[in-house]
Amino acid sequence: MRAGDIRKAYLNFFAERGHKIVPSALLVPENDPTTLFTGSGMQPIVPYLLGEPHPLGTRIMDSQKCFRAGDIEEVGDNRHTTFFEMLGNWSFGDYFKQEQITWMWEFLTEKMGLDPQHLFFTCFRGNAELGIPKDTESALLWQKLFAAKGIDAKIGENPETDGIREGEKIFYYSEKKNWWSRSGMPGNMPLGEPGGPDTEMFWDFGAEHDFHRESQWKDAPCHVNCDCGRFMEIGNNVFMEYRKTAVGFEKLKQKNVDYGGGLERLIAAKKNDPDMFLGDIFDTLRETLKKLSGKKYGEDSKQTFAFRVIMDHMRAATFLIADGVLPSNTDQGYVLRRLLRRAVRFADMLGMVPGSLSLCVAAVVSEYQEAYPYLIEKKGFIVSVIGNEEAKFRETLARGMKELEKRLSEAALNGKDAFELFSTYGFPLEMTEEIAKEKGVTIEREEFQREFTKHQELSRTASAGKFKGGLADHSAKVIAFHTATHLMLAGLRKYLGQDVHQAGSNITEERTRFDFTHPEKVSREVLDKVEIYVNEAIEKKCAMITEVMEKNKAKEAGVEGSFWEKYPDKVTVYKVKADDGTVYSQELCGGPHVANTEDIKGRFKIIKEEASSAGVRRIKAILE
Ligand code: ALA
Repeated sequence: MRAGDIRKAYLNFFAERGHKIVPSALLVPENDPTTLFTGSGMQPIVPYLLGEPHPLGTRIMDSQKCFRAGDIEEVGDNRHTTFFEMLGNWSFGDYFKQEQITWMWEFLTEKMGLDPQHLFFTCFRGNAELGIPKDTESALLWQKLFAAKGIDAKIGENPETDGIREGEKIFYYSEKKNWWSRSGMPGNMPLGEPGGPDTEMFWDFGAEHDFHRESQWKDAPCHVNCDCGRFMEIGNNVFMEYRKTAVGFEKLKQKNVDYGGGLERLIAAKKNDPDMFLGDIFDTLRETLKKLSGKKYGEDSKQTFAFRVIMDHMRAATFLIADGVLPSNTDQGYVLRRLLRRAVRFADMLGMVPGSLSLCVAAVVSEYQEAYPYLIEKKGFIVSVIGNEEAKFRETLARGMKELEKRLSEAALNGKDAFELFSTYGFPLEMTEEIAKEKGVTIEREEFQREFTKHQELSRTASAGKFKGGLADHSAKVIAFHTATHLMLAGLRKYLGQDVHQAGSNITEERTRFDFTHPEKVSREVLDKVEIYVNEAIEKKCAMITEVMEKNKAKEAGVEGSFWEKYPDKVTVYKVKADDGTVYSQELCGGPHVANTEDIKGRFKIIKEEASSAGVRRIKAILE
């Protein structure tokens, strides 16, 4: 079973059980304030978990491209990646625990042929303070499924302290492990956020490998969540039935299932090999790197580490650029820049010819083109973006080298200098050390580390506040701005032409900030016309009508939307329509919106128009 076979088998299995497929959303989320990147399959699906009807019904599934920026520095071991594909299925108030658990068991043991002796499960222990009961239903369901295979699966109550005792296959954990929401544990969830207990599925690579005894966790008992490497989570069934309120958790309108499982992890379980980078999805890329570097994967631990960094980062960069991200010093672009620079350093370490990194793109595209055909036409562009970024980085490196030599000649190279070279010119410490050593200078590693930690904390604080897009929350004011923003886009398209499309939006209770494609400054005259257009729609008390349409029909009817390829065959169109029949806006969206434009309550005013990036303008507007 290769990666493509597993992806297909999963989707077929759930299609047979009434699920409709939705295409993968973009890696850069729209209307989602919680994160910079799509990091899980459920992110684009949140409105439907909250009760918005999905155009395809109550059972959907997908294979979602995901990117987790938090893991960049972790990449290099055998299991961390920044980019991955998450297989997912959802029930919107349709089936619940019984079906999901039985189906997952059937899929893993029958369709994938995984040996149940290697499977372990975890369930939520319950928390009286939160008012959420223990999930005995899930534990008993798993136990029954084991029994049908002749396995007497025992349940462990306190795995963190007891470890795994004879015959135990199912374990209870607290909300630290068995609770899922976009923002993590209950305490971290903002008001209104949906979440719930989950039951996770693990693969056991086998105690005989001695992972635990050789690990930093060796003084504690080994259990499925201990991170020593013996166990790997292969999937998570979230029973999304709660929502956080000011006075605790309340039940959502409906009981939902949110399942997500990493494709690469299923491949690793199927191969029973914990090294994710040996999975067949990396075969072409590994071979390409072997040719480009003349080195072998798996022979030398430092080189293997470098192989993994390049494989992960180049795959991620290919997908990010295909989804519209370009290297820059802010937001998503900054993350892409970090990936590419880190890849360049490790390419040098492997002795690859400078400028050859972009040759990895072809390998990624050939591996993924069947599932993601749009990569083929974007390949040339991706290659040129990466080639340019590498060249630019090398220029910076060359300037850094001059600075390094200058400081060395003054014989004043301390850990702080080394850190400055790192942060300003991207000089890795190891490289600075090596050059300094030739001149008989040693660098204080601890001092470097201190500066590094300080910087990391600063940038974390900065990114926590900065990395926001989409709607700030679902308050009445924010929803009013969201509808007004639809009207503004329609107005801009009316007066500037049909090449105007949304390029990003960020809406708070105070204002809407909207980016759109347009090559030049927009005159105040046009902005005034757009204001009049929006205010007319507000004054006319237009209804917001939603309509489920065939995608092709919607496109033909002139419905506005960007990235049509990410929408399923049936789409929800949000239409602002006046009693006299005038349609002020029709746009693809997942909501939420006001029911009638009179709820916008205010006069729409554009207060600023400026350049955002090449070919993109930015407007700020308020409601007076
Ligand atoms: N949304 C759940 C996860 O990402 C399934 O683990």
